[in-house]
Formats: sequence, structure tokens, C-alpha cells
Amino acid sequence: MKSRAKEESRAGILDGARVAEEIKREVAGEVARMKSEHGVRPCLVVVQVGDDPASTVYVGSKVRTSEELGLLSERHALPADTTTEELLALVHQLNEREDVDGILVQLPLPKGIEEQRVIEAIDPAKDVDGFHPVNVGRLALGQAVLAPCTPAGIIELLERAGVIIAGAHAVVVGRSQIVGRPVAQLLLQRDATVTICHSKTRDLPGITRQADILIAAIGRPGFIRGEHIKPGATVIDVGINRISDEKAARELFGDEAERRLEIIARRGSTIVGDVHPAEADRVAGLRTPVPGGVGLLTVAMLMRNTVEAARRRRGLS
Ligand code: GUN
Repeated sequence: MKSRAKEESRAGILDGARVAEEIKREVAGEVARMKSEHGVRPCLVVVQVGDDPASTVYVGSKVRTSEELGLLSERHALPADTTTEELLALVHQLNEREDVDGILVQLPLPKGIEEQRVIEAIDPAKDVDGFHPVNVGRLALGQAVLAPCTPAGIIELLERAGVIIAGAHAVVVGRSQIVGRPVAQLLLQRDATVTICHSKTRDLPGITRQADILIAAIGRPGFIRGEHIKPGATVIDVGINRISDEKAARELFGDEAERRLEIIARRGSTIVGDVHPAEADRVAGLRTPVPGGVGLLTVAMLMRNTVEAARRRRGLS
């Protein structure tokens, strides 16, 4: 009886893998249709500068998924000592190419490269990341065509799980260009009441505890604790942090700790989000796991943006 009561009080899991598969199936269907009806295959070019291991994993996954869904893809790997001018020259070439629909420059770029200049050089029509100021401006106006992939994925996850956004109080912790700011815009566009918190926010738990939908995109392992969460809230964890400390893993993972300790023993580290999983489990109504939550949606939405960019550039319905 005791264990049943405990079972009943655990947060439901928002399954990012299932939703990502669903979106990828839809995109693959659309790609097949574009090919048969218009003889067009959308083409994504992914550029990586340097050999940051995490970026190599992400870039590999983007290229592989493109191929799985029937898109054309091209990978450019440039050395870490590439100059801003050299990278800009590549971007200009890709802008000019008729066959290229989407251009993604993997971030972060090595120190010394002027990231913002590179982002601003990408043709907004091919900016499948949605980071160009023109696309950021359109998003702020509620006219987004190419919205950033992780934020757009969060919205898909919420909507497909039946979470009501209109009228909800959504609190976003983190104000990055990649996640915090754009997800706040997308939630606002769907009629949420939106609060953005950050490192200077006073009484963070007092604000996050008001959230019906709480989005954590801070980059600090297990930072959002039970005291930050309103009972029954939907909690979206965007963090991807590596930890190798066994004591920390025991404290964070509760019932799952043994499995995580095995992962640390085998691989040297395990991944934890910005939300304390064991505490969120006790307080939240729904939550995303890490891994298996939001991360998988980013690539799925990139595929969708690439198809959308192709459709618009090529004047297809
Ligand atoms: N680095 C981490 N996330 C992203 C992303 O969504 N796009 C790009 N280009 N780089 C990233």
C-alpha cells in the first residue's frame, strides 16, 4: 500500500523520444511528397569549426537524421584555427548555392571567431536555427517562420501532451538567445502569461513556484529543486550537464541512482538536467527526463525547419 501511494505521487513523464519520432515520421512523409510531386530534395548543410566533442555528437546526429528522413545533407568540418573571414566566405558561398536550403553553423564557435557576424551573414531564408536578427525580430512580432529548434520542440512536446498553454503562467529560467528568450516568445504567442527569470532575479523560488509551466534552461546540474516547483506543475528541463561525482548522482537520482552509478562506472560520467530529478518527481505533475526529453526534439525540429525553408525558397505549397 505504501509503495502504491508513492507510485501515485510521482510526476508523469513527457516522452521526448516518442514525440521526436512522430515529428520525424511527419517530416519524412513531407520529404517523400516533395520529391514525388516536385522532384525536390531539401538540402541541409551543417558546419562545424574545431573538434569540440559535444558538437561532434550533435552535428553527427543532425547529418544522420537528415539522411534517415530522405533529405540531402552536407557536413563541413573546419579546423579550430579557421578565421572569421574564412568562415564568412564559406557562409557566402552556401548562401549563393541554389541547391542549399538550410545552413547551420554549430555553436559555440572557437574563441576568436566573431559568432554574431557569422550568424548575421547567413541568408535569413536559409537560417534553419532561427538565430539571424531578422528571424529573431519576426519571432518577436509573432510572425516566426523559422523559430529556433529547441524552443519550437518544447512547444510541440507541450501541445502534443495536451498541456494547456493559453492562460497558463509560464516561467522561463534562463535568458539565452538559443532557448530562454525564444521559448518565452513562443509561449507568449500562444497566450501564456510569461515571466523570464535569470541570475539576477530576486526570490527565484517565490516566482518559479507560481509557474503552471516551468522551463529550466540555465546550465547548472539539478539547480531547480522541489522548493522551486508548484505541486502538479509541468516542468521542462532543457539542461544537459555531465556529472561524474558518485555522491552527487546518489543525491540527484533517488530510485534511479544505481543505474546512473553504473553509467558513471562504465563511461566516466552521466547526464543530468537543470532540474533535480528525484525532487521534481515528488512535486511536479509532468516532467521531461534527461536524457530522453527535450534534446531529441531539437534535431526533429531542425528537420522540419529545413523542409519549411525549402518549401518557401522554392515556392512550393
Ligand atoms: N549549439 C547548441 N544548440 C545549438 C543549436 O540549436 N544550434 C546551433 N547551431 N548550435 C547549437
